[in-house]
Amino acid sequence: MNNISTKLIHQGREQATASFSVNPPLVRASTTVFPDLASYKASYQGLAFETPRYGRSGTSTVMEFQSAMAAISNAESCIATSCGLTACLSVLAAYAKPGRQILIQRDVYGPVKAFADSELAQLGVEVEYFANEQELDSLIDNHTSLIYTEVPTSLTMKLIDIKKISAIAKSHQVPHACDATWGTPVFFDAHRFGINLAIHAATKYINGHSDVLLGAITGSYQDLQLVRDYCQLHGNYAAPDSCWLALRGLRTLSVRLARHQQNALYIASWLKAQPQVQQLLFPALPESPDYQLWQQLFSGAAGPFSIELVPCDDKQFERFINSLTLFGIGTSWGGFESLIMPAVPHHLRATTTQKHQKRLVRLHIGLEDKQDLCDDLQRAFKTLAK
Ligand SMILES: Cc1ncc(COP(=O)(O)O)c(C=O)c1O
Repeated sequence: MNNISTKLIHQGREQATASFSVNPPLVRASTTVFPDLASYKASYQGLAFETPRYGRSGTSTVMEFQSAMAAISNAESCIATSCGLTACLSVLAAYAKPGRQILIQRDVYGPVKAFADSELAQLGVEVEYFANEQELDSLIDNHTSLIYTEVPTSLTMKLIDIKKISAIAKSHQVPHACDATWGTPVFFDAHRFGINLAIHAATKYINGHSDVLLGAITGSYQDLQLVRDYCQLHGNYAAPDSCWLALRGLRTLSVRLARHQQNALYIASWLKAQPQVQQLLFPALPESPDYQLWQQLFSGAAGPFSIELVPCDDKQFERFINSLTLFGIGTSWGGFESLIMPAVPHHLRATTTQKHQKRLVRLHIGLEDKQDLCDDLQRAFKTLAK
């Protein structure tokens, strides 16, 4: 069972056989009970999040989701967390030690930067940002405890050479954690590129239906150990209901992504010819400065990308957004539906400064008919011309 499409269908269904059903049962529990004292004791000898012992350590449903995620990621293990953000922050916090340094890629997901600048700084961790492998090389030293990247970066959609980052990390024996949410394990084989800890907001494509918050971190037992300890100490656990829904989402992940990709590429190409669009930020376009890197790292393109509109005043911009009927105005992405988000909340994503009056927006291209989506955008663009 080497192909990921097959793994997506068959992994994480171990408990299904016992219940004579296709899907494993949803097991909700705060309390786990044991047949005898020996099995109770044995449960505490196993790893947290791998052995049922108390609800916070996961039920069989959580473990099914984790084992499916590990299998599709070609990793030994996975820890599910309450949401994508807690997955990111648990990794950072687990490797945070006073007097140590954490190196973070510029333009990462805004709340990660906010956490690094406030909480990590208060813990006495030195946080530095880098834009490329040269900057990383000049910053890394023997007090670096973690390198943290994201591919592509939120909103600005920049790619960094992950293979080179991993090589630098390895030569200094520093673990490399990467937010791999955009590509998912279907389009981005994170561990093959030397990433030690791959972080996923399973909220997005993995669940895929905009009704769950969930995170996942994959890696080897050894690389995950500090994160496991941290999550256990801090009660960061994933709800069985979320894991059950995300397992259902996994079954169609590769099919959905193929359609997201087809629609996104079609609409991005169409947008290139629209006079209201000044720039497209999408590494999967041959015109993108990151196109070659994208080809090396990814086997496909997901649905979110950003566009920069021609300068317009606030009223025109509002009219444009409000006249869209198929694109919902929303912060998330990765669901079946198309979304648009004005990428202006500097307070949230303060890593990039937006030029005056230029309007950066993020689109998430959903599973609707691609021509209907173009028509919707076309209608809205007309309001910019007025
Ligand atoms: C790249 C990336 N990582 C992490 C997260 C956080 O995920 P969640 O919303 O599940 O906390 C998001 C959410 O937008 C994201 O876009």
